[in-house]
Amino acid sequence: MRTVLIVGNWKMNKTASEAATFVQELSQRLPDTSTGVELVVAPPFTALESVRMALGTSSPIQLGAQDMFWEDHGAYTGEVSAPMLKDLGCRYVILGHSERRTLFGEQNDSIQKKIRAALKHGLRPILCIGESLTQRENGSTDDVVTQQLRESFSGFTDEVLADVTIAYEPIWAIGTGKSATTEQAVAAHRTIRRVLAAIASPAIAQRTRILYGGSVTPTNIESLLASDQIDGALIGGACLQAESFVRIATVASTARSIGV
Ligand code: PGA
Repeated sequence: MRTVLIVGNWKMNKTASEAATFVQELSQRLPDTSTGVELVVAPPFTALESVRMALGTSSPIQLGAQDMFWEDHGAYTGEVSAPMLKDLGCRYVILGHSERRTLFGEQNDSIQKKIRAALKHGLRPILCIGESLTQRENGSTDDVVTQQLRESFSGFTDEVLADVTIAYEPIWAIGTGKSATTEQAVAAHRTIRRVLAAIASPAIAQRTRILYGGSVTPTNIESLLASDQIDGALIGGACLQAESFVRIATVASTARSIGV
């Protein structure tokens, strides 16, 4: 069975000191969710160290980064590498977020290099894919996610793909308050699993976690996780307040026991 994974993507929010205070509050409020759910926070690079210190060594919350470059080191001004993130205690790295694609011009071929570098250094990539509103209205959602998956994983072996998580994030749902319905998300997740079965293997497709992202809140998380096709969530806005993140984590920790 796939363990539910909840990832908080803080985006460009919270200074290092704000982040430490926030994480302390989170730790105090969080019930014992260690069994049913895996929790990750992805602060900005500048707050990774303070969050790591605030979490300590026994926290159930793991650390993730929001992006990285594919080279290990060198003359790449402004970039950070997988070994740097690993050294700061990161376990996960979000790659190919739609904001990286639309605001910073990221393409599937560079995302592919980043996935490869992350895996080489023992970081677990969370690959974000999803269609725009126009693409959904054109009926091309399946084609878009299929192409994103095929290009991001071109040349990968099954074995390597086993460590990747996918986040289906329709662009029209991100930060808009207009989440996809559970039915829309499930349909996309089924497509993603079919593509994974074709490019890797049915076994890999079965064990890969597919998260949903886009206006997830404490109110809609239960309905999303009621489907066993949805293995967790990538959360933006609602992870910035301790109360809403804790409520989401609490629902998620029991989701599989009450699920369909
Ligand atoms: P949102 O962002 O929850 O604020 O819609 C999700 C994301 O961008 O990962």
